[in-house]
Amino acid sequence: MKKLLALIMALAMVLSLAACGSSSSDTTTDDTDTSAAAADDTTEESADDTSASTGGQKIGISMPTKSLERWNRDGTYLQEQFEAAGYEVEVTYADNDTDQQNNDIANLIADGVDILIIAAVDGDTLSQTLADAGDIPVIAYDRLIMNSDTIDYYVSFDNYQVGVLQGQYVIDTLGLDLNDTSVSYNIEFTAGPTSDNNAGYFFNGAMDTLQDYIDAGILVIQSGKTTFEQCATNEWSTDTAMENMQNTLASYYSDGTQLDVALCSNDSTALGVAQAISTDYAGSNTVIVTGQDGDIANLANIVDGLQTMTVYKNVSDEAGVTLVLAQEILEGNEPAEELLDSLDAEAAYDTESYDNGTGIIPSYLLVPWTVTVDNLEDLVSTGLYEWDGDYLVSATDE
Ligand code: BGC
Repeated sequence: MKKLLALIMALAMVLSLAACGSSSSDTTTDDTDTSAAAADDTTEESADDTSASTGGQKIGISMPTKSLERWNRDGTYLQEQFEAAGYEVEVTYADNDTDQQNNDIANLIADGVDILIIAAVDGDTLSQTLADAGDIPVIAYDRLIMNSDTIDYYVSFDNYQVGVLQGQYVIDTLGLDLNDTSVSYNIEFTAGPTSDNNAGYFFNGAMDTLQDYIDAGILVIQSGKTTFEQCATNEWSTDTAMENMQNTLASYYSDGTQLDVALCSNDSTALGVAQAISTDYAGSNTVIVTGQDGDIANLANIVDGLQTMTVYKNVSDEAGVTLVLAQEILEGNEPAEELLDSLDAEAAYDTESYDNGTGIIPSYLLVPWTVTVDNLEDLVSTGLYEWDGDYLVSATDE
């Protein structure tokens, strides 16, 4: 019953964000409609030509999909914040389809946008289309765009730190001690897709943090799936993550072996893994399940004890940093470290970590933090969530 409630709330969240994105200005495209007509007409302008805008400048935003909660949030926050600053905005969603995203971006370029903000479906598939961007500045949003020399900046979170927080949570919660090899715990990993440049950072951050404990035999991976490629989950799919965990449970845990930790790189995969554990796991212990994002359904699972933690990323802040950066670029400046002084959110300026194959891309990296059942109230403090009975829902503006 509680799970049903969580699912209903998650659906309501996605629908309300989608409605919010389109009702205000009829801008967003619906990637749940895969018809040819929809593919031909993926964008609409949000403001007419006579509306007040910042020097008439137009912002082109390409998001990967509406099927995962966070990209609805990102698209909505970006649109709202850029429009509030007086810009004209076009937002597209690509249905996790690389061809569609290339079309979306080609259309935004043809529409004469002054800057492109892109969260890639697959960071390796956009270089040809972006070669036509000419002088249009490009910000890689959240996911780095690879092998394209047209990328000016990268705005994201400290992706490696996301994995470190997950690993550290496991160490702290189990009270692991490298000097005490008399105890051992079983752990399994679920990672994101190899097409998402972030996914390797998440996985490596967690694996590097836990490696000494694995080497000491304190943490044991019964399935033997130790590499990123072995743990990868296509499209961050909840269903695929669930099926993979069901298979792991059937093959390695059906004999009564206890699973202690399911380290999942993000919330959409954690949702599937938690589902598999509740239906297919024979043991009665509480399995530590990690996540990332703070999706509404996962926050409900945290309340219900089906997920243990999530690494929260405030994507309203990520949109805010992107706005400040874009404003500077559009004013003809070349922002660097000093931009940090103008930001409302805590971030680092990084010129070392993110090489996209054509060179280092200067990056603004926001700070993620750990959320458990004990500090859900901190999410309410962001102003983005509110309580609805025992559960958190998205805060309404009204
Ligand atoms: C984002 C994560 C998100 C995942 C799936 C990653 O690129 O950084 O926050 O969970 O994509 O949407």
